[in-house]
Amino acid sequence: MSTSKGTFRFEPNPSPCDPSERYTLLENPGFGRVFTDHMATIRYSEALGWNDAKIGAREAFRLEPSTLVFHYAQEIFEGMKAYRLPDGSAALFRPDANARRFQHSAARLAMPLLPEELFIEAVRQLVQIESAWIPSTEGSALYLRPFMIATEAVLGVKPSSDYLFCVVATPVGAYFKGGSAAVKLWTSERYSRAAPGGTGDAKCGGNYAASLAAQAEAIRHGCDQVVFLDAVERRWVEELGGMNVFFVFEDGSLQTPPLTGTILAGITRASLITLARDMGMTVREEPYAIDQWEADARSGRLVEAFACGTAAVVSAIGHVKNSESAFTVGDGNVGPVTARLKAALLGIQTGRASDAHGWVHRLP
Ligand code: PLP
Ligand code: COI
Repeated sequence: MSTSKGTFRFEPNPSPCDPSERYTLLENPGFGRVFTDHMATIRYSEALGWNDAKIGAREAFRLEPSTLVFHYAQEIFEGMKAYRLPDGSAALFRPDANARRFQHSAARLAMPLLPEELFIEAVRQLVQIESAWIPSTEGSALYLRPFMIATEAVLGVKPSSDYLFCVVATPVGAYFKGGSAAVKLWTSERYSRAAPGGTGDAKCGGNYAASLAAQAEAIRHGCDQVVFLDAVERRWVEELGGMNVFFVFEDGSLQTPPLTGTILAGITRASLITLARDMGMTVREEPYAIDQWEADARSGRLVEAFACGTAAVVSAIGHVKNSESAFTVGDGNVGPVTARLKAALLGIQTGRASDAHGWVHRLP
């Protein structure tokens, strides 16, 4: 049976997950392994524009082997979460910011711009239909993955004439296996993530593919994540493969690398800058060199560092290593400023603290 939900046609999954099985899956979902019953899709063609908006059963795509996305990686995505609020309802956090960043990524990859309202409506409709999948345990949420792929079947290096936008949902717990323990970073001397003029500030799959060899190097050296340096001088700290980075100094000030075009403009990053300033802290968006980081950590001028992003929330950085040296940040554990900012952000996202900036988008 098909019904209409505003712009979206709704075709319920005829065999959804059994509630008792869902309940078991929600107890310990891990990250990105369990998916809900439905997905949102919207098609685009040059002739019709955006069309065929639908919420239907989550199912495999059938695509020709020549489909452009398989060859030239014309693909972009977003990452956002729906949170369970204390009254049992649900909320998204700054979905308008994800919608705008999706348009920014689309422009960089020569893809059509999905209107902001359509992006938000797709996510809203899906979350409302899947609300039973939003976990309520501390630190968990329903992670939403909107993405768009080039679907024209032709082996030409050119922008596709057709696209598929899709949103899938996955209940998630902590991103790192170690939960909230401080992470260990690896500084790669061989690999860069992004170069000036490249796609560093777009959220496209290619950036993540390019980070995997560096990430494998990090794992081989006993680290959790790579911290990437700038591609020109190989000196300035940029970000992690999927997170922005902040430094906390002895005088209570914070610093984070500026958005120069090679770094993804994180929504968590922007929110933490605002929250820290609300708390009276000074926040600088200025470059920070890796050798300075080491010197400041050793002298005690730098007391904490943390990574932040939708998936990872706020994760303390305890140790930093490269092939020649290693240093510890603070005492190697989660510091008080990191913990305070994390609690403030999560408090707003989960509806336990007041939302002074109007970031929480409640779902009916
Ligand atoms: N940097 C990169 C490369 C990312 O993939 C992400 C995650 O989306 C972030 C930073 C953090 O962005 P946000 O806070 O919007 O999730
Ligand atoms: C997110 O934080 O949402 C991301 O997309 C990062 C990814 C590494 C999971």
